[in-house]
Amino acid sequence: MPAKSFYVTTPIYYVNDVPHIGHAYTTIAADCIARHKRLKGYDVYFLTGTDEHGQKVEKSARSAGLKPIELADSVVGRFKNLWQKLNISNDAFIRTTEDTHKKAVNYIWEKIKAKGDIYLGEYEDWYCTPCESFFPEKQLIEGKCPDCKRSVEKIKEISYFFRMSGYQDALLRHIEANPDFIQPDAKRNEVVNFIKEGLRDLSISRTSFSWGIPVPDDPKHVIYVWFDALINYLTAIGYPDDMDKFNKFCPADLHLVGKDILRFHTVYWPTFLLSADLPLPKKVFAHGWWTVDGQKMSKSLGNVVDPNEVIERYGVDQFRYFLLREVPFGLDGDFSKTALINRINGDLANDLGNLLSRTTAMVVKYLDGDIIKPDTWNPQDDSLRNVLEESVKNFEAAMDELAFSRALTSVWTVLSRTNKYVDEMAPWTLARDAGKRERLIQVLYNVLEILRVIGIILHSFMPQTAEKIWKQLGIEKCFSNLTFSEEVKWGGLHGGIKLTRGEILFPKVEGL
Ligand code: MSP
Repeated sequence: MPAKSFYVTTPIYYVNDVPHIGHAYTTIAADCIARHKRLKGYDVYFLTGTDEHGQKVEKSARSAGLKPIELADSVVGRFKNLWQKLNISNDAFIRTTEDTHKKAVNYIWEKIKAKGDIYLGEYEDWYCTPCESFFPEKQLIEGKCPDCKRSVEKIKEISYFFRMSGYQDALLRHIEANPDFIQPDAKRNEVVNFIKEGLRDLSISRTSFSWGIPVPDDPKHVIYVWFDALINYLTAIGYPDDMDKFNKFCPADLHLVGKDILRFHTVYWPTFLLSADLPLPKKVFAHGWWTVDGQKMSKSLGNVVDPNEVIERYGVDQFRYFLLREVPFGLDGDFSKTALINRINGDLANDLGNLLSRTTAMVVKYLDGDIIKPDTWNPQDDSLRNVLEESVKNFEAAMDELAFSRALTSVWTVLSRTNKYVDEMAPWTLARDAGKRERLIQVLYNVLEILRVIGIILHSFMPQTAEKIWKQLGIEKCFSNLTFSEEVKWGGLHGGIKLTRGEILFPKVEGL
């Protein structure tokens, strides 16, 4: 039987801005789930990319004295570079300025038009350029954008409209019949309330600037950037030319998005798809936003967190771990160096790094560095093994719900139990008594075996750390060829191998 497919996406990022912690957050979360699904045997397609058209990018390019494509080319490099540093395992990177994408957008436009869902009309409303979003006057808050609170401009122009109003009932029915479609639950209610207020037709073209995909047969208009951008999820899986690939991965299993762009993904996007007779994504999950030291992150406050600086100073896996551990996925959270350092020094250095380091040191000291697999099992260790097995189950259940922080908590349950086990069993005492050698071998093997399993579990969160752990345990397997369910089974660590003690996994961080 062919492997089941799993198609996961991040938003495609605007190229008017350089990558910050918000971009890194979604991309790391997507990477974590993609890696986990690969280990679970899925044929994964993990997509990220850049959103390069629209008024916002055009304006930024102008103020930088560049052509929009020049700005895009340079910023794309910065995104790709960061993803490489962060060990992001994306299968594709899409740019909306690629010809294949333009073709897909044209194709969908024609398809929706043929359905009778695109018409020419006059648009008069307010536009927020930072959000690339239209608002009727009554939705403005004190004359400002209701989403980002910045200034809006009045726009009156002839534009093409998409008959979104015609899909209101079908969309509500879909949301009701598929409770998983919009996650977390609280967000679903917000979207449902928004739809119930009444869906208006959507303006999907603009004439006041030119940086976009021209409307087929009417090139005075460029296609609205969100209509263009959302279609990237189809282009990247071959639509409309490679229908084998398309059928393999469509519909998307998971669109990961920030809470600010949930409406585009759960109202605009599904109605475009309904009109084009294409299946709707299985799940759209909205995560929360990061503040920095309790404040909104903004260029004007000068507190934008550059992931490059964080990983340079604190390490890649430390950053990946922190983002997914600190805040339950779906809620807002606060980034601060103090919180990051506490996680590094506590969870990573003390609980994990120190367990590996002291265990390998004892194996070197008491067993001459030999990993020895015991011949017998001591029932006294049943409870330790049960904690591990229970935690693996909890981990998997949490991952299925994208509850990354809870998944990690279950790993730390094993770690604290194992640290306690070492203290209780006191291998240093066993080592003094030649008659207790068999017990010493059992105890040290149990701890190494738990560390092996923790390596595979943590791989999707901290790929480099997992490799380092395994290397020290003398395991030479490559994570890309492994199966989670096989590797988490007890007893996989071979005897007859020498340990290679390595560097400290997580050096403690002193001061800020
Ligand atoms: N181009 C659109 C997405 C189109 S998808 C078809 C876009 N781009 S963006 O670059 O502005 O934002 C991308 C993502 O960054 C959004 O999911 C947004 O929620 C996220 N974040 C921006 N600031 C953030 C924080 N401070 N914290 C967490 N995520 C944040 O929107």
